[in-house]
Amino acid sequence: MSYDDELKSNNYSTPKRCAKALKKYLTDSNSHILDIGCGTGLSGQEIINVGFKNVDGTDFSDKMLYEAKNKNIYKRLFNLDLNSNFYNVNFNYNAIVAAGIISPHHANPSCLEKCLNILCNSGLLIFSLNDHAVENKNFMDKIFMIVDKNFEILEKTYGDHLPGIKLNSFVYVIKKLKIKKY
Ligand SMILES: C[S@@+](CC[C@H](N)C(=O)[O-])C[C@H]1O[C@@H](n2cnc3c(N)ncnc32)[C@H](O)[C@@H]1O
Repeated sequence: MSYDDELKSNNYSTPKRCAKALKKYLTDSNSHILDIGCGTGLSGQEIINVGFKNVDGTDFSDKMLYEAKNKNIYKRLFNLDLNSNFYNVNFNYNAIVAAGIISPHHANPSCLEKCLNILCNSGLLIFSLNDHAVENKNFMDKIFMIVDKNFEILEKTYGDHLPGIKLNSFVYVIKKLKIKKY
């Protein structure tokens, strides 16, 4: 079974929830959105489905990027390891979406901090954390040390992630603070 088929067979729901949350807080469909850890493009497709036109994507897997490219949904796609220190992104986005990507097995909490450099002032970050990530106290402490210092939490919802295997996730909408809190 392909990656997409396996997720679809478990009713992978987080990308749609992230896109809906994004649309609620960002009404301009010409806004520039970056889908980090875009995989094969399931998350990008949902962002397009709610009306956004300018969506770029990144992943650290060329295989995933190749599949995403074939879907013709992204304006630009590039290889980026979210755990690296250098983000070779020469653009400031209105919003960044991280659907199913921040977890103890994928991107580290520190990627939230690095995203600050590629977000506009008051830019939005929409990210999910599944039940497994939330159970990891050390991981969650690291997330909220960064969030509390640099962002305002606009929304947090709990709902389906992979209902086929009874796994849920939180979806957060956070806004970059203009001035850092000390
Ligand atoms: C669960 S998939 C989610 C893909 C997509 N966002 C979606 O919702 O369908 C996780 C993706 O993160 C990518 N990934 C994992 N660790 C990464 C890292 N450190 N930097 C960049 N991409 C990473 C994987 O290659 C994979 O495509």
